[in-house]
Amino acid sequence: MFSKKTIKDINLTSKTVLLRADYNVPITDGRITDNYRIKQSLETIEYLLDQKVRLVICSHLGRPDGVPTVAFSLKPVAKQLSKLLNRPVEFADDCVGLKTEQQIKKLKPGQILLLENLRFHPEEEKNDQAFSKQLANGKDVFVQDGFGVVHRAHASTEGVTYFLPSVAGLLLEKEVDTITDAMTTPKRPLSAIVGGAKVQDKIEILKRLIHIADFLAIGGALANPFLKAQGVDIKDSLFDPGELSVAKDIIHSAEKESHLRAFSFFIPHDVVVASSIDKASPTRVVDFASNSFADIAYYPKAVPITAVSLKDGEKILDIGPFSASFIAGAINQSQMVIWNGTLGVTEVPSLRGPIGPFAHATETVIEASIGQFGHKPFSVVGGGDTVGYIESRGLTASFDHVSTGGGASLELMSGHKLPGVEALEDKK
Ligand code: 3PG
Repeated sequence: MFSKKTIKDINLTSKTVLLRADYNVPITDGRITDNYRIKQSLETIEYLLDQKVRLVICSHLGRPDGVPTVAFSLKPVAKQLSKLLNRPVEFADDCVGLKTEQQIKKLKPGQILLLENLRFHPEEEKNDQAFSKQLANGKDVFVQDGFGVVHRAHASTEGVTYFLPSVAGLLLEKEVDTITDAMTTPKRPLSAIVGGAKVQDKIEILKRLIHIADFLAIGGALANPFLKAQGVDIKDSLFDPGELSVAKDIIHSAEKESHLRAFSFFIPHDVVVASSIDKASPTRVVDFASNSFADIAYYPKAVPITAVSLKDGEKILDIGPFSASFIAGAINQSQMVIWNGTLGVTEVPSLRGPIGPFAHATETVIEASIGQFGHKPFSVVGGGDTVGYIESRGLTASFDHVSTGGGASLELMSGHKLPGVEALEDKK
C-alpha cells in the first residue's frame, strides 16, 4: 500500500498547484514520436482540473546541461497536451523568473501553464536550494507525478518539497504500488525476464529476482558475459571484461537458490548473429547446445540452425529461436511476468515489415506475455528500451502495466528507495 499522501488526501480547491510531470519524450524535428508519458499524465491533470486548481506544470526534457537549447524546448509538449486534453495549455518561456511569476498570477481556476524545461537551469540537477524556492514561489501545493524522474534528487523532485506541502499524483501512486506489489507479493509462478545492454545496470535487479522469481531468464547484450562465463567464444559481441566476474557470481547465487527451492535460471543457448548491425546484413542462428530441447511451437518464426559457434567478426545481436521459445513456454505457464529490457537490438529497422532482424525474441516474449499462446499472465513491464519498443508496436494496452519509468522502474524493481517519493508527506 502506497504510504505517501496523494492528491486525493488533501483539499486542493482553487489552489495554485505545481505539478512535476515527466515529459521527457522523444522529439524529432519538433514532432513528438512517442506520447505515452504524456497520455499517462492525463488522469492526474483531469482530477486536478476538476478541483478547479490553477495548474502550473513543470518537467525536464533531455539533458541540455543547464543551457537553453531549442531542440530541448517543451513547446511541442504544450501543443500535444492541449490536443489530448482538448483545452488550451499556455506556455512560459522560462520555469522561473518575474515574467513567469506574472503569467502564474494571471491564471484562473481550471487554467494550465506549462513551464519551459527545468534543465535549462544548471541549478535543477544540482538540487539548488534557492532555485527550489523560486520554483515554489506563488504556488500552494506541490504534486509529484513524474515517476520517470523520482530516482533523481533534483530541485523539482526533492528540493522543492522543503518549501511546499508535497503529495503524489495518481500515476506515481499506481507505478509505485504496482511495481512494489509485483516484487514483494507476486502471483505465482512468476517469470522474470531481464534484458538490456549492461550487466552493471542490472546486477541489483538480477540478485533480487533470484530470490523472488520462479523462473528467471536473461537476454540482450546482458547475456554475453554469462555466455562467456560458460566458456562460449562470443567473438566480436559487446562485452566488458569487468563484467565476467559479476556474471560468474550471479550464476553461482542462482545455482545455490535452485538447490533451496524450485527455481530456474535460464541463460540463452542459441543466438542470432551477424557481422554488422546493419539491417541488410545476413544473419545466422548459432546454437551452443548439443541437444536443443525447446518446443518450437512457441516460435512460429523459427529459423534452421546453421552453426554451433560464431565466426571471426560476428557478434550476437539477439537471442535465438529455441531460447526465445523456451522463455515463452515458461511465461505461458506463469501467473505473472516481470520484464525489464529487450532481448536483442530491437532498434534496427526491418528491410520489410514491422519487425527488425534482431527483434524476434523480444516479439516472442511479447506474444507470450499478452496471451497469444492461450494463457495471459499479469504483466509488468519496465525499462526505457522495452517500453519504447512496445509503444512503437502499438501494444501498450495489451499489457497490464507498462511503466513510464526507465531508470526509476529499474531502481524500484531493484529494491532501492526513490528520493522523489521519500520526500513526499506520509499518510497519517
Ligand atoms: C528518463 O527518461 O529515464 C527520465 O526522464 C529521467 O531522465 P534522466 O535519465 O535524464 O535523468
